[in-house]
Amino acid sequence: MKISENFGLGKYMTFEFSKEKPIHNWFWYKEGYAPEMVEWCLNHSGIKNGTVLDPFCGVGTTLLTCKNAGIESIGVDASSLAAFISKTKTDDYEKQDLENALEFLHKKLPPQSRWEWEFELFSPRAAFPKRNYNEIVGLRELIEQEDARVRNILLLALLSILPQASIVMKDGGVLKIDKNKRALPAREIFKRKVKRIVRELETFKTGHIPAAFIGDARALDIGGETIDCVVTSPPYLNNIDYSKIYGLELSLVNQSKAEAQAVRMRAVRSFIGKSMTPQSLPPEVGEIGNTIPIIGTYFHDMEGAISEMYRVLRGGGEAHVIVSNSVIHQTHVIVDEIFGQIAERIGFSEVEIVVGAERIADVKPQKVKTRESVVIMKK
Ligand SMILES: C[S@@+](CC[C@H](N)C(=O)[O-])C[C@H]1O[C@@H](n2cnc3c(N)ncnc32)[C@H](O)[C@@H]1O
Repeated sequence: MKISENFGLGKYMTFEFSKEKPIHNWFWYKEGYAPEMVEWCLNHSGIKNGTVLDPFCGVGTTLLTCKNAGIESIGVDASSLAAFISKTKTDDYEKQDLENALEFLHKKLPPQSRWEWEFELFSPRAAFPKRNYNEIVGLRELIEQEDARVRNILLLALLSILPQASIVMKDGGVLKIDKNKRALPAREIFKRKVKRIVRELETFKTGHIPAAFIGDARALDIGGETIDCVVTSPPYLNNIDYSKIYGLELSLVNQSKAEAQAVRMRAVRSFIGKSMTPQSLPPEVGEIGNTIPIIGTYFHDMEGAISEMYRVLRGGGEAHVIVSNSVIHQTHVIVDEIFGQIAERIGFSEVEIVVGAERIADVKPQKVKTRESVVIMKK
């Protein structure tokens, strides 16, 4: 296994650069990376056409970058929220769809919405000033009456403004209500967002529409040897439960309370709280996999995902997996090398780790140097 450094890549391993890019910036997703990261991986693999897969597609950075490059792609995510955002960002739209989205902004909200918003952690009413709450459920009810493409644009705009319109703070791995937070007027920022989305779509080129669907990276519904390149970034071993952090947004897309549970069942166990029954531990993990169960289950799940990447890739194809090493319960876990060793055992012919960034984790009483890397596995 070769290890090299390319510290120019580190800045593309976070969502920072996506915030400035049209369409990429529609929904703020802290866990995402930048399109430049995907471009680097595509260049490295030499792919010009063929099909790219992202089995942990998040908000669709890989898919949108492939669409811009004229390459076909498939995205899978355990979260119905992520799959919805990926699909909406990468669809093609007619001029009429954009006109209808702008037209919607003049519609009158229902005086009393019949739309019931349920969220498993707390009442959504507690998360917003009263007026914002009423505007959001009113908009949600009206949006449902639009045609599919227009509905998707409008719903994405509504989802994207929830953090600014609410008094909820995303604090590490939890949601907190902060009565001192100033919430912006919901309808106003929704209007601005829709106008911006329409402006950006007016100049956007159409192309291969990626397939984005809900699924499980450990058991893909994709045929063997059909994929030319994988570019992805799985959840990090950091104890963050995406179904909770983006729970409000998820519950606005999907009105069933059971959906959050279903997302959690499909998700890789990177956080404490999911059932962690002892099961076969990849030998590369060593004793820490037994002493700290979350580490064992994480690598067990990731072995499943790496095996699936191997199965669906054609011979000679590359999987590019962006990962971060972690410090968990004071233990430094060298995630990239363990991934590389698992990949070699599974059958990948070459594995290379390119370190993009080094960071200092302050885990009192000590400071630990961790790193983020691309693990490149060639079949
Ligand atoms: C680090 S994020 C990916 C971000 C993505 N690179 C982007 O730029 O938007 C990891 C994603 O994996 C998803 N996920 C977790 N477990 C999964 C599983 N078993 N199968 C598919 N996706 C899963 C999460 O919902 C999350 O969206």
